[in-house]
Amino acid sequence: MSDSGCKHGFYLTTPIYYVNDVPHIGHAYTTIACDALARWHRMRGDDTRFLTGTDEHGQKIQQAAERRGVTPIELCDEVVMNFKKLWDALGISNDDFIRTTEDRHVKVTQYFFKALMESGDIYKGSYEGWYCVPCETYVPDAQIGDDKVCPDCKRPLTRMSEESYFFRLSKYQGALIKYYDDHPDAIMPKARYNEVISFIKSGLQDLSISRTTLKWGIPVPGDERHTVYVWLDALINYISAVGYPEAGEKWESCWPHVRHMVGKDIIRFHAVIWPAVLMAMGLNPPVRVFAHGWWTVEGDKMSKSKGNVVDPFEMVEVYGADAFRYFVLREVPFGNDGDFSELGMMNRINSDLANDIGNLLNRTLQMIEKYRDSRLPGASVLERARDVDFALRDMALRTMSEMDSHMADFALDAALKSLWVLIGAGNKYIDETQPWKLGREDPDERLDIVLRVLWEVLRLSAMLIYPFMPETAGRMHKQLGLDADVSAERHSEWGWGTYAADVTVKKQEVLFPRIDAVKWKEGYDARFRARMALLNPDAPPPTAAAFDTSHKEQVEIDDFKKLEIRVARIESVDMVEKAQKLYKLKVDLGFEKRVIVSSIREFFTPEELIGKNILVLCNLKPAKFRGIESEGMLLAAEADDGHREIISLAAVDDGFPVGSPVH
Ligand code: MSP
Repeated sequence: MSDSGCKHGFYLTTPIYYVNDVPHIGHAYTTIACDALARWHRMRGDDTRFLTGTDEHGQKIQQAAERRGVTPIELCDEVVMNFKKLWDALGISNDDFIRTTEDRHVKVTQYFFKALMESGDIYKGSYEGWYCVPCETYVPDAQIGDDKVCPDCKRPLTRMSEESYFFRLSKYQGALIKYYDDHPDAIMPKARYNEVISFIKSGLQDLSISRTTLKWGIPVPGDERHTVYVWLDALINYISAVGYPEAGEKWESCWPHVRHMVGKDIIRFHAVIWPAVLMAMGLNPPVRVFAHGWWTVEGDKMSKSKGNVVDPFEMVEVYGADAFRYFVLREVPFGNDGDFSELGMMNRINSDLANDIGNLLNRTLQMIEKYRDSRLPGASVLERARDVDFALRDMALRTMSEMDSHMADFALDAALKSLWVLIGAGNKYIDETQPWKLGREDPDERLDIVLRVLWEVLRLSAMLIYPFMPETAGRMHKQLGLDADVSAERHSEWGWGTYAADVTVKKQEVLFPRIDAVKWKEGYDARFRARMALLNPDAPPPTAAAFDTSHKEQVEIDDFKKLEIRVARIESVDMVEKAQKLYKLKVDLGFEKRVIVSSIREFFTPEELIGKNILVLCNLKPAKFRGIESEGMLLAAEADDGHREIISLAAVDDGFPVGSPVH
């Protein structure tokens, strides 16, 4: 089953975010991905609704509020603003924002509870078990070791016993398996589908869905000593936001088409508990639950103490919302885990955005400006197009349908890759047709045709880029001389050469200025230091460098003379696959060139190294790193500046002859 057949309803939700913390890249990622999908579907002409919101009840929030000395709702009101501000900064186009503390949600949750009590799917019993407070969940005995820590978050569990209401989850085991047999695309990617199926098959137990120990939550109707379990409360948001139980237009147009986007850590809540509850209510389960992967940061798990939590506000400020959106969606196959690095982002901005799309727009507009006084040749010139022009047109049309089928599978990265193949082909078309040679006077209109073809490719690219980079698409549209708002474009109305109005292009500032690697590194280091200083105000100031003070035994001059140290120039710097810390350097020693593998990647960008005159120990026995033979070692000073390790390469003045010996 593919989504692409569905022309009408597309109701997409993000998880609702806990308000006990500031938003980070994980939250931003889910929401950006949903935003791109929602915008795509609006352009397809689908009846689209996109929901996000906040999960405000539960022990975690209660405890966070206590620590801050405020009431839970005061904490929620404050933190919810951070999320709303972030969605504004990232250009998120959600149609609604639900908070679980809102009346509309509380009412529906209580309605659900009551209805399920009446149907017998909720019953009263008692529960004893090991509870993880941070995860708000009882952990089954089978998953607990002697250390009594939570298998997910590794924090200590608390033994709890309480009277509880239970949901008859076990009753729905067969129905769930049947549903997933019939709808193999209802959980994606496939690995998650298999994981959920084997979990269901391993046997489902009834689920405790109320707490007497928790005050901050929705009271169980008719038994107010109990509070509804926060996960049940949270899941119901998807339904309370679309007007259930009133059978209104919003409800009818949304619920049969509901798709949930979640992180892989919360797949079971969405693909096991939630569909069972819906079945018990006589409602259709989600059409799809898609679980995306998790981000690490420069090879490490994100953690406050490491100072490596990626703050999306900062990313927007430094790189711009669209570049950040593009990077997270393009970098990792959607569904897989990924590693975030600002260096990677800078490189991608320079290559994909400044170079590829930026150049295509710039070169095209420059030529229309120069050769045709900014006036776009009329569409009728396309009637005299040649094979090379038709080939690009066919590719453009193919790109749109290829992207549509990738988007139907939520393969956002693949959709972007398709589009970049077209953009690359556009640049190549310029190189091959060489419009500058066709010149100002052009009897056979060849130049007109080429310029119009390029403009058509760019007009299509602006529309196709819009879901991913809405602001950029708007800027492209304006520069291409199109008056209507790009968001009003519809795939079905777009056609090659069908835009008949007179167009004057308006070249403006470049879309993405190239980032200078040296300046970037300075900014990056400064931000890192500021973050660490904020986190750890007692740490020694950055000037108080610490270094290894253990001394080595004395040596004779002859010992030193055994070392052959020479000046070398760094000629090229390459990454070493699957080695985050290594660079493969090619250095020139004057009399020969050598390869040196060095673990300095985290300290320097390639641009900072290339051309530098450094000191190399050249008679060190060669050694292999990741299969690459290293034929020397570069010399560097090493210290700790109070926040992290720093190094400085031993170097000589620029222009000093390479190969010179060092005594
Ligand atoms: N409140 C629940 C969801 C209830 S939905 C009915 C919750 N909230 S959360 O704020 O902790 O997490 C929200 C989302 O952020 C999850 O989908 C989670 O996977 C995602 N991420 C949190 N850290 C992440 C990364 N490091 N990388 C990618 N996404 C991650 O869970």
